[in-house]
Amino acid sequence: MAITFYKLLAPVIEKDIKFAAQQLGISVSDVYQMILAEAARNQQEWFSNGVPNLNYQCQDCRLAYLYIVASSNANTFKHVLETNADLNTYVMNLARNNKNIKICALGGGPGTELLAMTKFFHEQRLGYCVSVDFQLLDKVQEWANSWYGIRNTINCTLQSIYGVDRNGWPILPSGNFITCDVTNPGSLMNTGNIWGQDVYVINFLLSEVFNDDPGVRIFIKEIASMAPVGSRFVFIERKGSMWASRIQKIAAEANLILSNFYESQLNKDYDEFPEDLGNVFLALSQTRKPRLTWNIIYSIGIKQ
Ligand SMILES: C[S@@+](CC[C@H](N)C(=O)[O-])C[C@H]1O[C@@H](n2cnc3c(N)ncnc32)[C@H](O)[C@@H]1O
Repeated sequence: MAITFYKLLAPVIEKDIKFAAQQLGISVSDVYQMILAEAARNQQEWFSNGVPNLNYQCQDCRLAYLYIVASSNANTFKHVLETNADLNTYVMNLARNNKNIKICALGGGPGTELLAMTKFFHEQRLGYCVSVDFQLLDKVQEWANSWYGIRNTINCTLQSIYGVDRNGWPILPSGNFITCDVTNPGSLMNTGNIWGQDVYVINFLLSEVFNDDPGVRIFIKEIASMAPVGSRFVFIERKGSMWASRIQKIAAEANLILSNFYESQLNKDYDEFPEDLGNVFLALSQTRKPRLTWNIIYSIGIKQ
């Protein structure tokens, strides 16, 4: 049985829409309209050529993200895990030798990277269980809602496919959501156990910080200084030389050896059907469809 991003996201979105309607005392159709309005606003902000002013604190804005972007960004991280030989070997060795991977997603609020790891290990068919311990850092505390929602849905899906004995699951997800602003290195004091992770993922975070913020460079430098030798820093961003040079600057200050930059135009996986999002797709897709093709650059930094 396939695990797909859209099928995992559907119940999370559906539940949140019903809850929002109930809380606000409005109809589900009204919530759909609010999501469309936020989706249009987000689009403008992302392409404003300035610091995007996004309303992630509001549920309709987060729902717009989950509907339009989460699946494509999960697809991106899974694509990098599958196609980058160095990262693939590193992750598969950890899976094989330790049965455990520690991963920290900076700006990982929605839970996108967990979606990617789940589908990745489900498809690997390794025949044993890999614990994947996530530390999610995000400045928007409200994202905890979808992170825990996605994790619960993943657990239910794995149970329905592999049974109640978790040792038989291909991945056992766990982890914490930590509220933290990556432009403020001072907040590292309160981040708990983000040190010593195997993989750090910086997936479409820099373009939201947007500015060449020295705080981000110090933040990542501090993390890298405590990271194990050989740990991987996966930078994924929008296509464009501005983002590549930003990543180079961060890596140089953090003493990471950076790979080449890889540029890809990506499409959803062959088994991903946005219709699987269910009611929200039926209601919104005439006006707005989830993102189905997109461009990225990525590069992997290695701690020396
Ligand atoms: C475009 S989303 C990417 C989310 C996820 N990594 C993905 O690829 O789907 C950017 C994320 O970064 C978070 N973010 C933006 N600025 C941040 C900051 N200064 N510190 C921490 N998180 C931040 C946002 O709340 C949002 O969750």
